[in-house]
Amino acid sequence: MDILVSAHSGLRYIALLLLVIAVVNAIGNKTKGEYLKKDKMINLFTMITMHIQLLIGLVLYINFWISKVPAGAAMKMPFRFYTVEHIFMMIIAIALITIGRKKAEKEGLAGFNKHRLIRNFYGLALIIIFFAIPWPFLREGIGAGWF
Ligand code: HEM
Repeated sequence: MDILVSAHSGLRYIALLLLVIAVVNAIGNKTKGEYLKKDKMINLFTMITMHIQLLIGLVLYINFWISKVPAGAAMKMPFRFYTVEHIFMMIIAIALITIGRKKAEKEGLAGFNKHRLIRNFYGLALIIIFFAIPWPFLREGIGAGWF
C-alpha cells in the first residue's frame, strides 16, 4: 500500500503542473479563437492524470478506513480530513474537469468558447485541488509529506 501512497503523493505535482499548463494555455489562446490538436492533447492528458489520481485515491480510501482509522475516530480530525474533506473536494474537482472537457469537445462550438470553458472549469478545479491537498504546513495534524 505504501507504494500507492507514494505514487498518489508524487502524482500530485504532475497533476498540478498539467492543470496550470491547461489553464494558462486556455487563457493564452482564448482570443485567438482556434482550438488546435495541441490544446486537445493538453486537456486530455490533464484529465487522464486526474482520473488516475481518482482510481489510486479510491483504493487508498478503502484501505484508510480498514487499516488507518481508529474505531470511532472517523469524524475526528485528523482522520476526517481524509474520510470526508479530501475525497469530497477532489471528486467535485475531478467531475468539473470531466464535465468541462466534455462540454469543450462538443462539435460546432467556436474555439473561443472551448478555451473559455476549459479556463472556467479547469481553473475552478485547480483552486479546489490546491486547497484539498494535505500540504505539510497544514494545521491539526492533517499535513502529510512533500513527496
Ligand atoms: C487531483 C486529485 C488528488 C490529489 C492531488 C491528491 C493528493 C494527495 C496527497 C498529496 C496525499 C498525501 C500522501 C502522503 O501521505 O504522502 C493524499 C492522500 C490520500 N488521498 Fe488523495 N489526492 C487526490 C485525489 C484523491 C481522491 C479522489 C481520493 C479518494 C477517492 C483520495 C484519497 C486519499 C487518501 C485516502 C489518502 C490518505 C492515504 C493514506 O495515508 O493512507 N485522493 N492525496
